[in-house]
Amino acid sequence: MEKLLIDGGCVLEGEIRVSGAKNAVLPILAATLLADGPMQIANVPHLQDVTTTMELLGRMGVSLTLDEHMNIEVNSGPIKELFAPYEVVKTMRASILVLGPLLARFGEAEVSLPGGCAIGSRPVNLHLHGLEAMGAEIEVRGGYIHAKSKRLKGARLVMDNVTVTGTENLMMAATLAVGTTVIENAAREPEVTDLANCLIKMGAKIEGAGTGKITIQGVDRLHGCQYSVLTDRIETGTFLVATAITGGHVRLKNAQPKFLESILMKLKEAGAKVHCDENWVEIDMCRRRPKSINVCTAPYPAFPTDMQAQFTALNCIAEGSGTITESVFENRFMHIQEMQRMGAKIKVTGNTAITTGVDKLVAAPVMATDLRASASLILAGLIADGQTVVDRIYHIDRGYECIEEKLMQLGASIRRVPH
Ligand code: UD1
Repeated sequence: MEKLLIDGGCVLEGEIRVSGAKNAVLPILAATLLADGPMQIANVPHLQDVTTTMELLGRMGVSLTLDEHMNIEVNSGPIKELFAPYEVVKTMRASILVLGPLLARFGEAEVSLPGGCAIGSRPVNLHLHGLEAMGAEIEVRGGYIHAKSKRLKGARLVMDNVTVTGTENLMMAATLAVGTTVIENAAREPEVTDLANCLIKMGAKIEGAGTGKITIQGVDRLHGCQYSVLTDRIETGTFLVATAITGGHVRLKNAQPKFLESILMKLKEAGAKVHCDENWVEIDMCRRRPKSINVCTAPYPAFPTDMQAQFTALNCIAEGSGTITESVFENRFMHIQEMQRMGAKIKVTGNTAITTGVDKLVAAPVMATDLRASASLILAGLIADGQTVVDRIYHIDRGYECIEEKLMQLGASIRRVPH
């Protein structure tokens, strides 16, 4: 199994380009199932989750062509199977995103129920309730969701919880339903809006994406289009924190700071100087040690759970004490034990981690348990004395494009070894 070796102590400096957003490209690839013509998707990040989605669509018979710039052309015309098998879904929970489109366009779908997850139980009950309210017959049998419907009917859906992929699945399903669907308490994440913008370009009638109330007027068909995926705000945030903890100075091109408000606010509180324009953001820590911050995760536009682990790494070496509260997932502190093994002072009470910053972490062999936890351990390695070995890095390849190349470009000492 591949590992990353990181020699701590480098100050990150320079300029890199942010990639397309993982959480936007996955629903957009699922949305190609709704189009009755070819779709061209640009700004696609080179990620394992994209490869997995392409494999999933390919198994269904969808034709996919990838050029050297990672532009993907997708044609769902030749589809022959409306099936998402367990062996694919278990490696990527976002596979559930094919359920809404398959059901809406073809009237049938069989999708493996995603299993447990390292960060919490992560049920899909709200996806299923919403589809049932739109007239689908759903049965869960043998670990699979069997869904059937004549044409879906528009409905008023009041979501119990804010769910990102749940909102996306139901919004996609509603585009081809008869009548109007209203999703109340919808997720407002920029990736939901990006999917809505893509669907609108395909001919869908959607209003209110980016707010808590999305209204979708069903249409008879959607056509193919060209679409360029939004840039990744979590990748941007991860590199900003990496820079802050090393005392560095970095400019991130192809970033969209308007979606980073809560993250930039916390970085400023930590003592960073931040400058930005429409499509770049620059952070300068002026070689200073960051100050501890307090955060509580919540749905957008509040502080994202996908940045919690990285800010925990920052607090580990920051001046003073801070609290990190995780309110979205029940078990998203797996990185903390690993950070403690590197000398971090963290006490966990319920869903809050109380940190007392130390001057330096000490390198240790550590193991990643999920995608963002892996990123936080790499960040911890950047500021540890000695060589940190991060194991199980397949998690990182699911969601960060060329992370070690980008860090090396900024002056980090990091390399991948086979085992
Ligand atoms: C998405 C993101 C993930 C991010 C998360 C929260 C993608 C591909 N993944 O995951 O990176 O960490 O949003 O911002 O976009 N819930 C239910 N029932 C449901 C669905 C969700 O109870 O049917 C609960 C979950 O257990 C969780 C909360 O709602 O506590 C939010 O989860 P959700 O927004 O659905 O996460 P994902 O869409 O899976």
